[in-house]
Parts: sequence; C-alpha cells; structure tokens
Amino acid sequence: MNASTSESRPAATAAPTAVGTDPFLERIANDEKIEPQDDMPESYRKHLVRQISQHAHSEIVGMLPEGGWITRAPSLKRKEVLLAKVQDEGGHGLYLYAAAETLGVNRADLIDALHSGRAKYSSIFNYATDTWADIGMIGWLVDGAAIMNQVPLCRCSYGPYARAMIRICKEESFHQRQGFDIVHNLMRGTPEQKQMAQDSFDRWWWPTLMMFGPHDSDSVHTQASEWGIKRLSNDELRQRFVDVTVPQASFLGLTIPDPALRWNAERGHYDFGALDWDEFWRVVKGDGPCNEARLSARVKAFNDGAWVREAAVTHARKRSARAANQSDVRGATSSQSRAAA
Ligand SMILES: [Fe+2]
Ligand SMILES: [Fe+2]
Repeated sequence: MNASTSESRPAATAAPTAVGTDPFLERIANDEKIEPQDDMPESYRKHLVRQISQHAHSEIVGMLPEGGWITRAPSLKRKEVLLAKVQDEGGHGLYLYAAAETLGVNRADLIDALHSGRAKYSSIFNYATDTWADIGMIGWLVDGAAIMNQVPLCRCSYGPYARAMIRICKEESFHQRQGFDIVHNLMRGTPEQKQMAQDSFDRWWWPTLMMFGPHDSDSVHTQASEWGIKRLSNDELRQRFVDVTVPQASFLGLTIPDPALRWNAERGHYDFGALDWDEFWRVVKGDGPCNEARLSARVKAFNDGAWVREAAVTHARKRSARAANQSDVRGATSSQSRAAA
C-alpha cells in the first residue's frame, strides 16, 4: 500500500500560476509525462523524492503487521495467499525505491532516513494485528484506502512513478479482494467469528479514514496539485472511500462504529462523524501502539541481512570478473587463429 502519499498535503489553497509563462507547467497542463532526463524545478524533484520514498517505506513497513500472521494463518491456502501478498508489498517497495532513484538519490540514504526516524511511513502500520480478522481488515480496508489514493497516481506527471503505480494498483486490487474474502468468511461463521470480525472492524475503521491525511482546510499549501502529482484532495478521497465502503460493510453484516453516519440525499454522499485528530498526530509523531516495534524490526532485518547484501555484491563482482576473463581469452584465441590463417 502507499499511503505515504496519504499524509502528503493537498493543494486546496494553491495559488494560481501563469501556466502560459512557465514551460514546465505548460507541459504538465498538456498532460505530458516528465521523464528523469527532463529539466524539472528542484522543488518538484524534492517533492517527488519525499513522496515516492515515503511510499516505498510504507510498502516495506507494511509487510510487518501481516508478516507475523503467515505461520498462524488458519489453512495452507490462507498461508499461501498471505505469503504472496506480503511478497507483493516487498515488490512494491522495490519498484518505488527504483522510481525514487531515477531522481538522482541513493537508496542507501533513503533507507537510512527511515531507520533514523527522519522519514515517515504510513501511520496505519503502527496499529497492532491481534487477531486473524485484523488481516482481513488490512486487506479490505487498508488496501482499499490505498487503492483509492493510488489510482489517481497512475496519471501523475512523473513517468516512472505513474508507471510503477499502474502495476502496483493491479496487485492491490487482489489484496483488497483477499481481505474482503477473509472478512466474508468470518461473517458467515460462528457467533465468535462474527464478533471477532466486528471487534476488528471497530478498531480499524477510524484509523483507515485517517490514512487520507488531515482535512483540506488544515493542510499546508503545496504545489502537488499544480504539478499534476496529487489529483484529488484528502477530503475528496476520504469521502469516496466512505461512499464505496459503507454498502460493502452492510452487505457483510458489519455495523459501522459511527453513530453520525447517514446518507445525505442532498449531497449524494454519506455524512460521517469527526475523526480523532489528536490520535492521528500522536501516531504520526511516533507515539502509536507499535511505532517502536515496527522501526526496530526494520533496523534489525536490515542489519541481519548485511551478509546477504555483501555476498550478493561479491558474487556479482566474481561473475563480471569471470565474464571479462572469458572475453579476453576469446579475444586472444580469435587473434591467434587470424594470425595462423
Ligand atoms: Fe497491498
Ligand atoms: Fe502495496
């Protein structure tokens, strides 16, 4: 999932810019893709580095809450599906680090920023996964919210990011379906299983809505919209998510933990209650239920994996030295045979 993007700020208050006078903005207005070798404003490059790397970190940290359930999944089929899903998230992280590198940054520096706490990742992964139903909720709700955020990014102005997002979104839609399937199964099960699903839904509903970030009115101005990076605002995305998810919850037989939730025929949308922004900022700033555990797990995995990276680099060096030797030998042999002829 992304989601890093969820905390990026919308450009609700962006000041109008004279597109006609700026060739870069004109390219964006014409829906042209910006490619790594193209001229771009430094602020555009920096914004993308921050957004894409936060997104990559979110994918990688996002493997942790579910990774712990691979051995505890209730059947071999569920283990296989979850293993594949967690591997997909690792792949998303790798595409995105590669996309960030096209902007001239070094992956090791990005990872160091995550491990030292300088870089953010999506706050949703700082919540605990205490029951099997939580794995269903992550797939259905968290991947669902990520899709809502990420589909517009498939049209973003930076080519490598947009192309990575197309592939990622295809995989995310499988993730959402597997989560929905887990919850659907539980809701057709025993009273205890239904209760486990409802308890889990009660815990994940509000943090999922927070994934879309602060209200547009509380967001600082950025140029992300003008640059064709953020196509829809936080509040627009959150409303879309509520509108598509409420009918799914009622189909499943789940009760939404929000007494203020009701259909507003005049607006053509669901109204919903206020989010707990104190909780949102607390978790963003590092004081969520699992912030420390997530970061220390990442740092430990990185340190424990140092020998694998060293072995891979040594192996690659040996292979290229061997290939260079063989081409020297081939070169010498062919000049000998030419001389003999
Ligand atoms: Fe996902
Ligand atoms: Fe993902």
